[in-house]
Amino acid sequence: GRVAVLAGGWSAEREISLQSGAVVLEALRRRGVEAHHIDPDERPLGALGEFDRAFIALHGRGGEDGVIQGALEVMGLPYTGTGVLGSALGMDKLRTKLVWRALGLPTPAFLRLDSEAALDRVEAELGYPVMVKPNREGSSLGMTRVNGSAALLEAWRKACRYDREVFAERWIDGQEYTVSLLGEQALPVIRIESAGVFYDFDAKYRAAETRLHCPCGLVALAEAALAELAAAAFEAVGGSGWGRVDLLRDAEGVAWLLEVNTVPGMTDHSLVPMAARAAGLDMDELVWRILLSSWR
Ligand code: DAL
Ligand code: MG
Repeated sequence: GRVAVLAGGWSAEREISLQSGAVVLEALRRRGVEAHHIDPDERPLGALGEFDRAFIALHGRGGEDGVIQGALEVMGLPYTGTGVLGSALGMDKLRTKLVWRALGLPTPAFLRLDSEAALDRVEAELGYPVMVKPNREGSSLGMTRVNGSAALLEAWRKACRYDREVFAERWIDGQEYTVSLLGEQALPVIRIESAGVFYDFDAKYRAAETRLHCPCGLVALAEAALAELAAAAFEAVGGSGWGRVDLLRDAEGVAWLLEVNTVPGMTDHSLVPMAARAAGLDMDELVWRILLSSWR
């Protein structure tokens, strides 16, 4: 059948999505699939009427957050990855953390900054440093590490430009890991070593200094524990098909969940393709397996 590769959209991650979409499109075509790119920002979704299923390669709001998934449900078109609820929840970092906390899954302490007055509570309730984050954004856009109250207001204002909800999260001193999930399987864990203060937008897509380690360097038991935690965290928000869970591991070996990505980057330097390669799956096989997740 014909597959629509949805990529582009209007979110701040539009450019990344176009790169992901191009990779997916080529991989599907090499497999002999009749695949076409549809950019929901340019064409009405009615164009999807000619297709049999959709491969969602949209990142961020309006694509990764349940909106497109809902539209596809209405049209009766099967699609890859997580459904409406899990997509909406996964895009919402605050509410994802609330679910994890309710289930006893570890995530750093946080405080919603719904007004300038809330900034005064950060020091007492979280202590510095903190990470200030827009609630529903990807690729670390709008995030700032804040070391003391002097820099908080500016960081909050910056985050507010990306979403109307903003929160501060306790800074965890540790190493950053990411776990890619494909079907029921956790792929090899990647350790992210960025030259900057954290794995920010530049480190993700521009910096040559970011080093990705796979194998991640943990002993097998510790790696398996991260993978198991990530799978539980993904399941908790209703994730399915494929995805990626980002976490930190502190000096005592305690893991802290940061967020889930229900449509992770699929560019050729993205994390899921790297983890898949380490598991012996090339890009074509990875894309194919993701497409299979649309059969349900
Ligand atoms: N949000 C980006 C695309 C990622 O998680 O890979
Ligand atoms: Mg994300």
